[in-house]
Parts: sequence; structure tokens; C-alpha cells
Amino acid sequence: MSRLVVIFSSILVVFRANACPCERPEVCQQIRGERDFELFVFDVGGKTWKSYNWSMVTTVAAFGKYDPELMCYAHSHGARVVLKGDVPLYYIVDQGNRTAWIAEKVSLAKSQFMDGINIDIEQAVEEGSPEYHALTALVKETTEAFHREIPGSQVSFDVAWSPKCIDKRCYDYVSIAESCDLLFVMSYDEQSQIMGDCIAMANAPLSQTLNGYDQYLNLKIDPKKLVMGVPWYGYDYPCLNLSEEGICSIAKVPFRGANCSDAAGKQKTYKWILKQVNSSLTGRLWDSKQQAPYFNYKDKEGQIHQVWYDDPQSICPKADSVKSKGLRGIGMWNGNILDYSDEPVSRQQTAMMWNALLGC
Ligand SMILES: *[C@@H]1O[C@H](CO)[C@@H](O)[C@H](O)[C@H]1NC(C)=O
Ligand SMILES: *[C@@H]1O[C@H](CO)[C@@H](O)[C@H](O)[C@H]1NC(C)=O
Ligand SMILES: *[C@@H]1O[C@H](CO)[C@@H](O)[C@H](O)[C@H]1NC(C)=O
Ligand SMILES: *[C@@H]1O[C@H](CO)[C@@H](O)[C@H](O)[C@H]1NC(C)=O
Ligand SMILES: *[C@@H]1O[C@H](CO)[C@@H](O)[C@H](O)[C@H]1NC(C)=O
Repeated sequence: MSRLVVIFSSILVVFRANACPCERPEVCQQIRGERDFELFVFDVGGKTWKSYNWSMVTTVAAFGKYDPELMCYAHSHGARVVLKGDVPLYYIVDQGNRTAWIAEKVSLAKSQFMDGINIDIEQAVEEGSPEYHALTALVKETTEAFHREIPGSQVSFDVAWSPKCIDKRCYDYVSIAESCDLLFVMSYDEQSQIMGDCIAMANAPLSQTLNGYDQYLNLKIDPKKLVMGVPWYGYDYPCLNLSEEGICSIAKVPFRGANCSDAAGKQKTYKWILKQVNSSLTGRLWDSKQQAPYFNYKDKEGQIHQVWYDDPQSICPKADSVKSKGLRGIGMWNGNILDYSDEPVSRQQTAMMWNALLGC
């Protein structure tokens, strides 16, 4: 290409990037209003967002490919769409790198008419390390830049189910919470570091989940900064042995200092789980200690599996505690993994999962 063509086409790209893709140009305007209750959805791509319950959704974190149609649709329902932010922490220890990264994200958000950013750093960090301080600064500086450049925008940060160095993520949770708009608490993968027996357990047992919030609140973090994240997926564990009491021993797969982890299982969508439970050995069982459903099934090779998951019955008391603890709202990983087909049974099951987010 000649230089002229290059210059011309890059002008076109800039021009196109800034043209509103929505039918009505005013729909591109960023959302400014605050709603009392936050319903925060992670979207990983595809078109199932069309079947979300948009009378509930307040924020969509777009973790898939940028979809202008989703942005237009969300805005027309008063919901925010936010970018994903992830960066290797060693890279942003340097102030220049950090500032450049933030500027790039702000500019990307503006060019796509987006309403903020969800910072999803799940890296191990040692307390007091250069990365520890850089992460705190990153969240503060990102929030300042977004609020200044996109008035009304939202900056959120994803944290583990407990602030106690889960998965070696020893962050300055108090400062991070103070400097951003909200923390999305990922109340799932709670068996990432199994310290006791190597057995299959619930993804997010009720009491363990609620303990995590008490730990955040004990740090004097404002409850209005906390959004509860619930799983719309479960874990499928091949059992090394299934005891007569139904205890499934699992392979030892170490993770960040623990000898045993949910990494021995595979994550499965709620859509898959509801299909599998019908052809299982046990049907749906309920563990009253963990307050979670599970079942056993045999695969084609004859291997026994145990599947642990969340459903409306296990989600509803969690959602109730969002209200009793006065939290900012609720959300899920992720919005796409229900069965959004037109089958009447699926429609009903899907509606029940959405409605469970509002409590019992
Ligand atoms: C950004 O980080 C990289 C990787 O550590 C480093 O090589 C580079 O020099 C940094 N950039 C600046 C502007 O300091
Ligand atoms: C394995 O399961 C059988 C029942 O199927 C049980 O009798 C046995 O105690 C279990 N072994 C271990 C190590 O849990
Ligand atoms: C992991 O297993 C090793 C070897 O059995 C043991 O020495 C160590 O204490 C275990 N670590 C944890 C955290 O359980
Ligand atoms: C599973 O079985 C239940 C109860 O028999 C039935 O109502 C439901 O339609 C089945 N679900 C699927 C996905 O096949
Ligand atoms: C969507 O949510 C609203 C508010 O909770 C509820 O009234 C409505 O029934 C839901 N729609 C469906 C299809 O379930």
C-alpha cells in the first residue's frame, strides 16, 4: 500500500470507530444514573444476551469480542457495558507503563461507547511487593481516569471469595475497595485450595460463601461496595473411589500451595448439568451441610463422576443475604451458560435462575 492509502485508511478506521453503531445516536451516550441494586452480568460472547432478563440487568462486563449490538441494546435498557481489564502486574509496576495502559483502556472505552471497566487481575501477589503497591495504584489511577474522562462510568475489581490471600492473592483489599466503585466478589471456585481430604465438594458452600463476606465486612469495607458473584456453573469430578456414603475421592492436583484442588474437576455449564442430571445414577441429591445440589453419573467408559453445582435452591439463601447484609447487588459467572432455547422446560428453568438472584 502507498503511504497515502495507509493514512487514508487509518483516518477511515478512526472515523468508523467513533461513529455510533446504534440506530438512534443518543443510545451511544454513556449511562450516568445510579441504580439502588446492582445486577452485574459477565458476558463471554455469542448472542444469548438477547434472552437476558433486561428488567434486572444493570451492568454487563463484556468479556467476549466487542459487540456493538449488545452495547446499543444494554444502553437502551439503561444498563452499562464495561470493558475487561487485565494486565501482567510486573508490567505496570513502572508508572509510565501503568499510565499508558490506563490511557489505552479509557480511549478504547470511549471509542466503543462503553461505561467503565472491570479489572480482572487474578494473579498471585505477595503482600508488600512492588506488584502489591502497583496493583493498588492501578485501581486508583484507573478509577480517577475513567471518572474524569467518562462521567458516570463505573470501575469494578474482581476479588476472590475471601480476602485471606486466597490463591496467593494477597492484595490491599481495603485500599482497592476505597478507590474503585465496587468489588465483584467471586463466590465460587471455593475449593481451589483443598487443605483437608481430597474429595469432591460444592463449588460455593453456603456457610463458606457467607464467611467470605463477613471477612470483607470485618475489614470495614463498605457493604455498598460489594457485589456478590454466584456461579452458574458447577464442577464435574471423576471419582477415584465412591464410598458407600457417597463420598467421591478425587485426584491430587496441586494449586498455589495446596495439594488438592477443584482443578481435578472440569467446569460445566448449568445448561449441561440439567441435561446430565436426568441421565444420572442418582438424580439430583441435596447436601444439607453445604446447602448444595449434586449427583453421580457413569460415563461411556464406565467411570463414575460426581457433579456439584448451584441451582435456584442453593442460590436463593445467598441472594437473601445480599439484602440482609446490605450489599450493593448480585451477579454471576456467567450470563451465557443457561439454556436459552425455546423449549418450555428450559425457559422455565432459565427464568427460575434469573429470579433466584432476587432472593427466595
Ligand atoms: C514497561 O515494562 C516493560 C516490561 O517490564 C519494560 O521492558 C519497559 O521498559 C517498560 N516501559 C517503560 C516505559 O518503562
Ligand atoms: C471405596 O469405596 C468402597 C465402597 O464402594 C468403600 O468400601 C471403601 O472404603 C472406599 N475406599 C476408600 C479408600 O475410601
Ligand atoms: C502436601 O503433601 C506433602 C507430601 O505428602 C506434605 O508434606 C505437605 O504437608 C502437604 N501440604 C499441605 C498444604 O497439605
Ligand atoms: C428432566 O427430568 C425432569 C423430571 O422428570 C423433567 O421435568 C425435565 O423436563 C427433564 N429435563 C430435561 C432437560 O430433559
Ligand atoms: C424478569 O424480571 C422481572 C423483575 O424481577 C420479573 O418480574 C419478570 O417476571 C422476569 N421475566 C421473566 C421472563 O422471568
